[in-house]
Amino acid sequence: MKTVGVLAVLLVSLASVASGRVYTIPENWTATIQGRELPGFGSSGSYILVSAPRDLNGSSGEQEFLLSDNGTFGLAFLNFNGTGNYYLSLVMGATNATAGAPIWTANRSKAVSNESRLTKTAGQLKLLNGDLTTAWSPSDDQTIASIGLDETGNMVLYNSSGGAVWESFDHPTDVLLPGQRLVTGQRFASNLNSSTMSEGVFTATMEARAIVLAFSPPSQEQQPYFLWSLGLPSTIDSARVRCPGYVAVLQYTTGGAVNMAYERSSAATTSSPCNAPLNVSLGSGNSKRQLRLESDGNLISYKLHETGNWETEFLLTQFFGHRACDLPLSCGSYGLCNQTGPCECMDNRATNITTVAESGTCESPNWASRLATCDTSTRAPIEFRLRSRIASKRAGRIVPALLSFTMVP
Ligand SMILES: *[C@@H]1O[C@H](CO)[C@@H](O)[C@H](O)[C@H]1NC(C)=O
Ligand SMILES: *[C@@H]1O[C@H](CO)[C@@H](O)[C@H](O)[C@H]1NC(C)=O
Ligand SMILES: *[C@@H]1O[C@H](CO)[C@@H](O)[C@H](O)[C@H]1NC(C)=O
Ligand SMILES: *[C@@H]1O[C@H](CO)[C@@H](O)[C@H](O)[C@H]1NC(C)=O
Ligand SMILES: *[C@@H]1O[C@H](CO)[C@@H](O)[C@H](O)[C@H]1NC(C)=O
Ligand SMILES: *[C@@H]1O[C@H](CO)[C@@H](O)[C@H](O)[C@H]1NC(C)=O
Ligand SMILES: *[C@@H]1O[C@H](CO)[C@@H](O)[C@H](O)[C@H]1NC(C)=O
Ligand SMILES: *[C@@H]1O[C@H](CO)[C@@H](O)[C@H](O)[C@H]1NC(C)=O
Ligand SMILES: *[C@@H]1O[C@H](CO)[C@@H](O)[C@H](O)[C@H]1NC(C)=O
Ligand SMILES: *[C@@H]1O[C@H](CO)[C@@H](O)[C@H](O)[C@H]1NC(C)=O
Ligand SMILES: *[C@@H]1O[C@H](CO)[C@@H](O)[C@H](O)[C@H]1NC(C)=O
Ligand SMILES: *[C@@H]1O[C@H](CO)[C@@H](O)[C@H](O)[C@H]1NC(C)=O
Repeated sequence: MKTVGVLAVLLVSLASVASGRVYTIPENWTATIQGRELPGFGSSGSYILVSAPRDLNGSSGEQEFLLSDNGTFGLAFLNFNGTGNYYLSLVMGATNATAGAPIWTANRSKAVSNESRLTKTAGQLKLLNGDLTTAWSPSDDQTIASIGLDETGNMVLYNSSGGAVWESFDHPTDVLLPGQRLVTGQRFASNLNSSTMSEGVFTATMEARAIVLAFSPPSQEQQPYFLWSLGLPSTIDSARVRCPGYVAVLQYTTGGAVNMAYERSSAATTSSPCNAPLNVSLGSGNSKRQLRLESDGNLISYKLHETGNWETEFLLTQFFGHRACDLPLSCGSYGLCNQTGPCECMDNRATNITTVAESGTCESPNWASRLATCDTSTRAPIEFRLRSRIASKRAGRIVPALLSFTMVP
């Protein structure tokens, strides 16, 4: 029987570590996709900024692009990777086209056409597709009076008395920005791939005691591959045990740190939180940054360089020692990662195969040799159990444990 390590699981616990411009949105306002299409960064494609009336105390005649004060963020129709699939997105680096990057998307599961529009009717803000069907409707029957985009990248919808009705920071897609908080129960998820922004198979979920990265294909059990925790839970279940009276909050900072701590809730019954805060430094120096869960499951901290380009300053795989096999799908759904050879195809053409694998016994030595071309059409569904080493890492010490689970690609 072949020994495979296609899905290596590492549970790692690392020790210790607005208000801007507001635009009034008048009744019957419509923004269509028009104007100059700006080139984007990498796979983000090109985008067209949305314009809105500037708040001029009622005399809102002039249209302006919906930008944050310094122009760092803008609301735009994004032509994702030039596919002609448009999304309503917040773009970072809006004043310097070379650095444009989407950091939030209105409804990632619903790409719209180039004939779509953003409208306000009967007080409701809606993104309408070319066929006038609703692709996004955030206000939940509440009347929207104005829209603001602050310098941190948070887009806020306000009602007529200035109350915040909706905030983009509460609805992360695949990116966390400095200052954005992820509280227990919230999550962000990778894009499906670089031409489709719909939710992919990787999620980062704030559990009660940990941020858990997991391979989460639809209607299948979550398979965690990385865990940063307050305290030292050895299983996904213990990461979900609440600290009574407290909620865990993760925050990414302008200094390139990821800080996680318990915050007291109003119902606090204990006088002190269950564990000390956890602060992990991913970079240095204050800068514009983004923390993105990529469609291969890697978590990357990017820093905006003076040249207008994004610089990779931290990759999750650095924690794995750049062992490619530690990312769940490093050889694809049907490929087996081999530490000393190229990716291999699983031989399951004839019958169902159950394979027992030990993490670390079948891994690829470098990124370049990872691609296997497996003919998935001739293969039966795979069911294999991966007996993986779960490592809890604290103060440099790796504590191995065993976990088994099933994966059916
Ligand atoms: C908005 O459009 C509707 C339908 O065309 C119209 O009845 C209504 O008077 C308009 N409202 C304003 C404030 O212009
Ligand atoms: C709007 O009106 C208020 C009160 O009259 C004034 O203080 C403020 O400067 C005005 N804002 C603009 C943008 O004109
Ligand atoms: C906005 O620009 C001003 C002037 O250049 C600068 O002083 C300020 O720090 C900037 N704010 C942010 C949040 O980048
Ligand atoms: C939308 O795309 C179609 C096909 O590419 C094109 O014919 C049409 O003119 C475009 N419409 C707008 C508003 O750009
Ligand atoms: C996003 O689009 C999907 C599919 O069209 C729809 O079911 C869902 O309600 C939309 N979400 C929002 C928030 O409008
Ligand atoms: C606006 O929202 C706030 C909460 O954010 C709420 O208290 C207030 O009643 C709302 N006002 C209106 C006019 O709906
Ligand atoms: C992304 O996924 C979609 C939907 O499965 C697929 O049609 C498209 O070809 C994929 N694109 C890439 C670049 O893999
Ligand atoms: C983005 O678009 C380019 C050009 O159309 C294409 O070659 C590339 O594969 C796309 N990126 C991905 C990974 O889908
Ligand atoms: C660590 O994180 C906590 C919680 O976010 C924060 O209050 C504290 O200032 C951070 N400590 C350091 C040294 O950055
Ligand atoms: C935009 O970025 C380019 C490099 O990509 C840089 O040369 C240029 O100075 C930047 N422009 C602004 C306005 O920051
Ligand atoms: C990994 O690849 C090497 C070199 O191709 C091969 O000798 C070895 O048998 C493979 N290991 C497994 C476990 O398949
Ligand atoms: C594979 O396993 C499934 C579920 O255990 C079973 O329904 C199916 O008949 C099996 N297929 C073969 C070819 O043995």
